[in-house]
Amino acid sequence: MEEKKVLIEARNLVKTYGEGEGLMYALNDVSLKVYEHDFLVILGGSGCGKSTFLNMLGAIDKVDSGEIIVNGRDIVKLKDKGLTLYRRNEIGFIYQFFNLINDITVYQNVTLAPGSRNKEKALKLLDRVGLLDKKDKFPRQLSGGQQQRVAIARALNKESNILLCDEPTGALDDASGKAVLKLLEEIHNEGKTVVLVTHTREIAQMANRIVTMKNGKVIKDEINEHVVKAEEVEW
Ligand SMILES: Nc1ncnc2c1ncn2[C@@H]1O[C@H](COP(=O)(O)OP(=O)(O)OP(=O)(O)O)[C@@H](O)[C@H]1O
Ligand SMILES: [Mg+2]
Repeated sequence: MEEKKVLIEARNLVKTYGEGEGLMYALNDVSLKVYEHDFLVILGGSGCGKSTFLNMLGAIDKVDSGEIIVNGRDIVKLKDKGLTLYRRNEIGFIYQFFNLINDITVYQNVTLAPGSRNKEKALKLLDRVGLLDKKDKFPRQLSGGQQQRVAIARALNKESNILLCDEPTGALDDASGKAVLKLLEEIHNEGKTVVLVTHTREIAQMANRIVTMKNGKVIKDEINEHVVKAEEVEW
């Protein structure tokens, strides 16, 4: 049988906050492999460490100890320039609250990351997420669901194969949330690897792999035999 390629390997990640009496482990020895073409959901209650973990994979925050191997090297060891290049080129990140830049247009948001100035590609991606007609609007002129779709277009305008999504439907109503999930499903079907954080069990059923966290630890890592289509997810 062909071995699946490991795209990200997190080894023994530890992240603490506070000190003395107040010391707490946001990540308490987390190890996890993300395989090529996974649709991996990280599931768990509020405060269990999901965002902390995803932020480490995206190099948005630093671990206290542990290794994160991506494309053959440990990104924990990268310095400023290496980190910037990693975030820019190797990882797409989608946030709960979109994180668009508000005083530039939709089109500019999608083309923003240096190295992603491929104009035609940006326009194609906006068309893809159904927002070509909004390209010259500002984010505040868009609904939440539309803003999240701009964020997805931005994340896709990279060479990266990996999309990290932190509660991408958390701030959306059901219909907009579903549109976002459908888009992620399509993107996954086209070959991208998706890691999605949620506390919603129903959404987790879209994944081929469900990893459950509790108190800063991975307590379960299971294959989902009954993947549910985005269309059929209700929450
Ligand atoms: N900057 C910080 N300073 C202190 N504690 C923090 C900080 N960031 C996170 N924590 C703590 O670390 C733990 C994990 O937080 P994290 O944001 O990863 O949880 P989460 O699983 O994403 O929760 P939610 O579902 O509510 O988003 C929580 O107990 C949180 O209070
Ligand atoms: Mg969170």
